Amino acid sequence: MRPLLCTLALTLTACVPKPTGPPLLSVATLGEVMHDLVIPSAEVVWDSVGTIYTAKGVQEIRPANNEEWIRVEQSATALTEAANLLMMDGRAKDTARWYQRSIALREAGAAVHKAAKARDPEAVFETGGQLFEACQGCHFEYRFAKDPSTIRTH
Ligand code: HEC
Repeated sequence: MRPLLCTLALTLTACVPKPTGPPLLSVATLGEVMHDLVIPSAEVVWDSVGTIYTAKGVQEIRPANNEEWIRVEQSATALTEAANLLMMDGRAKDTARWYQRSIALREAGAAVHKAAKARDPEAVFETGGQLFEACQGCHFEYRFAKDPSTIRTH
C-alpha cells in the first residue's frame, strides 16, 4: 500500500502546474530605466521646490499652479513604480540588498507623491531629500563601488 501512495503523491505533485506570475519581461536596460524614467522624474521633484539666496534677497521656488503640482505628482508616481521595474528579473543585481535599495526608492517616491498631493512644499523638500538618499544608497553599493570614477552629485 505504502509504495503506491508514494507514487500517487509524486504523480499528483507533478501534475500541479508551477505557479506563474504575469508574463513580465524586462525590455529596457537598467541604464535606460535610469535615464528615461528615474532621472527625469527625480529632476522634476528636485527642481520643484527650493530657496535661492541672492544679493537681492531670498527667492522661494514653488510649483506655481495646479498643473505644476500635478507634474510633481506624476513624477513621483513614475519613481514609485520605476522601483518595481528595478526589481524585475534582468535588472535586479541580486535578491537581497538590491530589493531593499529598490524598496527605499519606492517608499521615497510614495512619500513625495503624498506631499505633492497635499500641496505641501516643505514636505516635498523633505521627501526630496529622502529620495536623494534612496538614489545614493543604491549607487554607493552597486555603482560607485564598482567604478569610483562615476561618483557625482546624483
Ligand atoms: C536599486 C538601485 C538604484 C536606485 C534606487 C537608483 N539607481 Fe541610478 N543607477 C543604478 C545602477 C546600478 C547604475 C549603473 C547602471 C549601469 O551601469 O548600467 C545607475 C546609474 C545611474 C546614473 C548614471 C547613468 C549613466 O549612464 O552614467 C544616474 C545619473 C542615476 N543612476 C540616477 C539615479 C537617480 C536620480 C536615482 C533616484 C531617484 C537613482 N539613480 C536610483 C542603481 C540605482
